[in-house]
Amino acid sequence: MKLKITLLPGDGIGTEVTAQAARVLDAVAELYGHEFRFDEKLIGGAAIKESNTPLPHATLDACFASDAVLLGAVGAPAYDKLAPEQRPEAGLLVLRQALGGYANLRPVIAYEATAGCSPLRAEIIEGADLLIVRELLGGLYFGQPRAFIKSDGEDHAASSAFNTMRYSVGEVERVAHMAFRAALARRRKVTSVDKANVLETSQLWRETVTRVALDYPGVTIEHLYVDTCAMQLMMKPREFDVILTENLFGDILSDEAAVIAGSLGMLASACVGGAVDLYEPVHGSAPDIAGRGISNPLGAIASAALLLRHTAHLEREAQDVEQAIRAVLDAGYRTPDLRHDANGKCVVSTTEMGTLVTEALAEVADRRHAYHAV
Ligand code: IPM
Ligand code: MG
Repeated sequence: MKLKITLLPGDGIGTEVTAQAARVLDAVAELYGHEFRFDEKLIGGAAIKESNTPLPHATLDACFASDAVLLGAVGAPAYDKLAPEQRPEAGLLVLRQALGGYANLRPVIAYEATAGCSPLRAEIIEGADLLIVRELLGGLYFGQPRAFIKSDGEDHAASSAFNTMRYSVGEVERVAHMAFRAALARRRKVTSVDKANVLETSQLWRETVTRVALDYPGVTIEHLYVDTCAMQLMMKPREFDVILTENLFGDILSDEAAVIAGSLGMLASACVGGAVDLYEPVHGSAPDIAGRGISNPLGAIASAALLLRHTAHLEREAQDVEQAIRAVLDAGYRTPDLRHDANGKCVVSTTEMGTLVTEALAEVADRRHAYHAV
């Protein structure tokens, strides 16, 4: 298969982890006989530095001309004082909106090998395997009107600001269908998360999800308030299969869920449903550790696996990359973000982790070929 992939390393550790994910994709191409072409472009702070805008036209054009986009991370402290629409993050938000992927799939898996990396007790997280389906193009992130009304001069008390949370039935329906379809291929349970005891948008959300659920009689639907969900995630993560929620709640809950996986560096995501699919690890640019070669590339590599599955429909290759990740963790290798469990685990750099996954993938592919040869 031929694939054209736009690489957007972005800022901070984004560049380090994307390089490893691209290496693994190169290995996939080599091992399974595909042709993946990469086109690297600027986004975020790196783009502001070069061309004064977080999302240059050349970047957007390249994304639209490709089969999929693989992004690292955006965000740089140098631009912290800028207005939201000028910041590095705006590059990502405008890109998401332009590409149109309204459903952000964020799988969270508690691997047995890394159970000791989570601050939660092993018996709580053991076997946890859930999928957060985050609505990505609505809610407070994009609602109009929005403004920061700054008072002139020294009178800070006179400033105010507001954002708008708005959802239409259509926006809720399309992402709800995505979540129910995902549940059909999993353990057939959807937990819809809202704040329907306070927010009108959540009342609409709950009403709409309840209606969509009627199309999926084989799937159990439950509704939770977001505060309750935040607690249940830490108490009984195994109870969850698919969590369906709006943009901001999904942003917050997915960072929380990273505790189950042992590190934010482990989580991958896919933004699907639009013109071109966008894949990105859930973590940010982590300026505090950037450039030291210690970032965890597994979230980015797992995002590449999602690309193989959802865009390229190469399920076998996707599973093999996931199995390679598991094998490396089982063998005891960890980047430093994965809190240490004592048993002589081996701490490796970002690049070493990429090498280990690539090598493990070659073994997985070998075993697969040997199996098919008999
Ligand atoms: C995420 C990130 C982004 C978001 C930021 C970088 C704009 O936190 O993908 O979770 O809030 O969506
Ligand atoms: Mg986030």
